[in-house]
Amino acid sequence: MCGIIGYCGKEEAAPYLLKGLYSLEYRGYDSAGLCVFAPQGMLTVKTAGRVADLQQKWDALPERPFARCGIGHTRWATDGAPTEKNAHPHRVGSVSIVHNGIIENSGALRVELQKKGYVFVSQTDTEVLAALLDEGYQAVGNIPAAIRYAESRVTGSFAVAAMFEPEKDTVWAFRKESPLIAATAPNGNFLASDIFAVSRYTSQYYPLQEEEIAVLRPDGLSFLQKDGTPLEKDPVSILTDSRQAEKGAFPHHMLKEIFDAPDAIRETVAAYLRDGLPSLSLLDPKGFLRRAKRLFIVACGTALNAGKIGKFYFEKLAGLSTYCAIASEFRYDSPILQDGDHFLFITQSGETADTLAAMRMVRGMGFSATALVNTPNSTAVNLADSVLYTRAGPEIAVASTKAYVAQCSLLYLVANAVALYREKINAVAVRENVHALYHDAPICIANLLADREAVRAISQKYCEAPSCFFIGRGLDYSLAEESSLKCKEISYIHCEAYPAGELKHGTIALIEENTLVVAIVSGEMVREKTFSNIREVRARGGKVLLVTDRHAETQVADDLYIVPAKKLFPVCAAVFFQLFAYYGALLRGCDVDKPRNLAKSVTVE
Ligand code: M6R
Repeated sequence: MCGIIGYCGKEEAAPYLLKGLYSLEYRGYDSAGLCVFAPQGMLTVKTAGRVADLQQKWDALPERPFARCGIGHTRWATDGAPTEKNAHPHRVGSVSIVHNGIIENSGALRVELQKKGYVFVSQTDTEVLAALLDEGYQAVGNIPAAIRYAESRVTGSFAVAAMFEPEKDTVWAFRKESPLIAATAPNGNFLASDIFAVSRYTSQYYPLQEEEIAVLRPDGLSFLQKDGTPLEKDPVSILTDSRQAEKGAFPHHMLKEIFDAPDAIRETVAAYLRDGLPSLSLLDPKGFLRRAKRLFIVACGTALNAGKIGKFYFEKLAGLSTYCAIASEFRYDSPILQDGDHFLFITQSGETADTLAAMRMVRGMGFSATALVNTPNSTAVNLADSVLYTRAGPEIAVASTKAYVAQCSLLYLVANAVALYREKINAVAVRENVHALYHDAPICIANLLADREAVRAISQKYCEAPSCFFIGRGLDYSLAEESSLKCKEISYIHCEAYPAGELKHGTIALIEENTLVVAIVSGEMVREKTFSNIREVRARGGKVLLVTDRHAETQVADDLYIVPAKKLFPVCAAVFFQLFAYYGALLRGCDVDKPRNLAKSVTVE
């Protein structure tokens, strides 16, 4: 969601800015722009389209200036439509800025600044922030003071890169809540929203903290405290191998990432095993989970759906009462919290604003928080009291796939470790479970991947369905929720997940001739009950695709796919549904990796 890039060096800035913007595309955006210090002043080029359109516009300039410094941006529209006017950078007076985040009080500030003579050409909160910086700069002629002034006037979140016309060839950056990093490399100095924009040039970077200012010049990168005094910072190593972020021979990142699932499981699990058993001293070094009387899992989207699978394992295996909460709703609920409650926040990116806000809230209330994260050095890692890492590698496609598989796997492992500690199961049983996770599940998924043509054929049969219901009971329902999300977000088919037994309490009214229903059935306990629900659907003309873990009579459903997972059906069958959604979206001509309106990491609340 929105991406910032900045460059100051001895070489031409524009190619670096454009390259950086291409690397940030995966975050999701709908317009793009850049601004450079040209010899005759600051020059801005913007477009309502893709980075490729911006590049075309730049290349078509009659005289392209040689500029050594500049800023660029991909905008995901919040305040104001995705038009060229609303695209960043925004220039007001002597200042040009790009901004991620939201200025919550921009309405009142806009009116105040208009009274002072400022004229706004866009509908954005960013232009208001640029005006504040200009106002501060005009008043004292000092940039750190202008930044302090602007920061003191706004509420909300921001990561900003700014250029001030009189201060040639310099880029200034500051932030609150939204992340920003700086890096220095042999070919210049960089600023970016995340490491993927710089990792091809350097293996180290500086996370910019709140209350700090980064200053990029062609000959160096420096940092200031908010009061303008110099600040020494130590670089941090980039832990992610950026080559893993390439899609290689795969046509899409999403397909490549689905294929990464077996490795994601093995690498995530292996890091926490000692002598074939999950190590509590690695998984729970501070004893939070051991001491917990109740566990609250808080997350968004796919991470939340993984949490729901985790809830099942924590309760069933470890006897630990577990509650799942939607991060964006959590702060408005009134949970009765008590001593012994522990919080687990799940986030692939570690940058999801709703999840981070909930995390700050519970920590502010004095509770401890564990983050289950895929991205090292992310904000969630820095905020948490303890961290559990999934090792799925970078996930670039907007649709989360391998991260979900890794999250469910790690939750299963942790639940086993806690269950062993609480003597709910013995070491022999835990060893068997670990074997099923570490050994059997990756093989089951590899077989499914090898059978992808069959999945494609099923997708082809149903991809024109105008809507689809996913039904299941218990764990199968939680998987139905994730499968439905996957399908709707990339294929734009209206999908809904329903607990199979709940259908007849209202929703079955929507079933008519050929309505598509995907039924998920695993284990013995719910099998006959869900089969009854399938019969109810078919009696009303609905078409049923059954995905199950064992043999079923072919006449039970219109189509049948078996995922023969011994213990980890949600983990393995998730891959069937990821492929199902992928092929469906492809056949419908959708942009699989960058679905409309979506952002990879959702950095506004
Ligand atoms: O980075 P996070 O795991 O915190 O992201 C949470 C959701 O935004 C994310 O899972 C989203 O639902 C995905 N697009 C689903 O595929």
